[in-house]
Amino acid sequence: MNPRIFFESGQMPAIIVVTMARCLVTKIDRCNPVPRHWRNEMEKVLSTERQIARRIKTLSSAIERDFSGRELVIVAVLNGTILFLADLIRCLSLPLRLDFVAVSSYGLGTESGELVFTKELRLDVRRRDVLLVDDILDTGRTLHRVLAKVRQLKPRRIKTCVLLEKAARRTEKVRADYVGFSIPDLFVVGYGLDFAERYRNLPFIGVLHSRFYAELSSSAADEIATALNRWK
Ligand code: IMP
Ligand code: MG
Repeated sequence: MNPRIFFESGQMPAIIVVTMARCLVTKIDRCNPVPRHWRNEMEKVLSTERQIARRIKTLSSAIERDFSGRELVIVAVLNGTILFLADLIRCLSLPLRLDFVAVSSYGLGTESGELVFTKELRLDVRRRDVLLVDDILDTGRTLHRVLAKVRQLKPRRIKTCVLLEKAARRTEKVRADYVGFSIPDLFVVGYGLDFAERYRNLPFIGVLHSRFYAELSSSAADEIATALNRWK
């Protein structure tokens, strides 16, 4: 019998539904196995090195099309963009200049934690075409703040590019023009993204085993609390 008809008629036993769901999850996990070296710490891989590379090619084609014939100023937000940026700009053949900003949140863990620039722009972006690059669009506070700052400098045009976005957690009215991957509401690490400044070097994007948060040494407790508060 066609399982769909079976399911729609409401007669499919729960055990079969659960088994089918498990098979699907297993199949997805098999597609993106956690590399052996990281198996102890990572629960799963969301995007593999190959998937990221493929996606970056597509993003860079769209960026080249949109900025064709122009010189770009790329403004990247430190530190999470490092790997993404390095791979993205190697796919771009447009003339470009590169600059960085860094922001930090004070009053961590509170809604009102103010975002302060700890590294300012050095290049002049007035009447320039700007591509603002960030690692992840989460609540949107960072991108919103950086966009407002760059807009004050009167660029000719500004577009935004993020490796990841989590739509579920958005609090600010901000969107990205180029998005690598839309992901569910999970805390992810790797490919530039950190947990307490660790895991930025992973060549893939993954999810830490939840038990691992508790297992980290107590000497890192402050950094961990900071990382989790920033995310909450
Ligand atoms: P915002 O909430 O959109 O302002 O994102 C602020 C910053 O939080 C990002 O630039 C990341 O550095 C960090 N962040 C948000 N979600 C994650 C995550 O899942 N893993 C690691 N860092 C994250
Ligand atoms: Mg971070």
